[in-house]
Amino acid sequence: MIIAIDGPAASGKGTIAKRLAAHYGLRHLDSGLLYRGVAKAVIEGGRDPADRDAAVAAARAFEPGRYPASALKGDDVAKAASQVAAIPQVREALIAFQRSFARTRPGAVIDGRDIGTVIAPDADVKIFVTATPEERARRRLLELQGRGEASDEAAVLADILARDARDTGRAVAPLRQAPDAHLLDTTHLAIDPAVRAAIDIVEAVRAGRKPA
Ligand code: CDP
Repeated sequence: MIIAIDGPAASGKGTIAKRLAAHYGLRHLDSGLLYRGVAKAVIEGGRDPADRDAAVAAARAFEPGRYPASALKGDDVAKAASQVAAIPQVREALIAFQRSFARTRPGAVIDGRDIGTVIAPDADVKIFVTATPEERARRRLLELQGRGEASDEAAVLADILARDARDTGRAVAPLRQAPDAHLLDTTHLAIDPAVRAAIDIVEAVRAGRKPA
């Protein structure tokens, strides 16, 4: 089984994907880490993430696991990731890895921006996870504070809106809900009920029912 989870920053898609994978005994891939890894390599090489040649070279030389996830979590890396992710050749260089991950037994839950639309258009279940920008900014602020990083809500909201605009506005593989994806709005859902709702969607699809 392949489950595609897409959505904007801090919508809850990563946690939902991880928990769905554990629940169904599937492998989990956070595809954002691939773009973050490319961005990190560009920055480490002393180049600008907007430098197309540097970003494409880094994507072609990409090795999964080169950086621990903890080294890729910062908002500076997230911003650079959304810059390199807008470059078509960067995305192209990362497609084979993601498709082969999806095809490997026993199957996978992959979260990102274009999983249901580009990477795995034939996924068995597609879920588009969303929440209002204000709620996502509130969550991201709590996460940053939990890591001891100082920030304020207005700055976090501005970052989220800028990244949403870049991710939905780019020409290649923009963030959007696939026509056959099920919408899961987590604005008023804590993480446990959100995971429960995602499992309900998977179960309904597998039983051939229309999710509630
Ligand atoms: O966790 P968060 O949503 O903040 O970030 P992420 O999922 O790690 O993604 C970081 C950036 O990578 C996004 O803003 C996108 O620009 C890009 N990305 C993408 O273009 N396609 C994906 N499948 C995953 C991430």
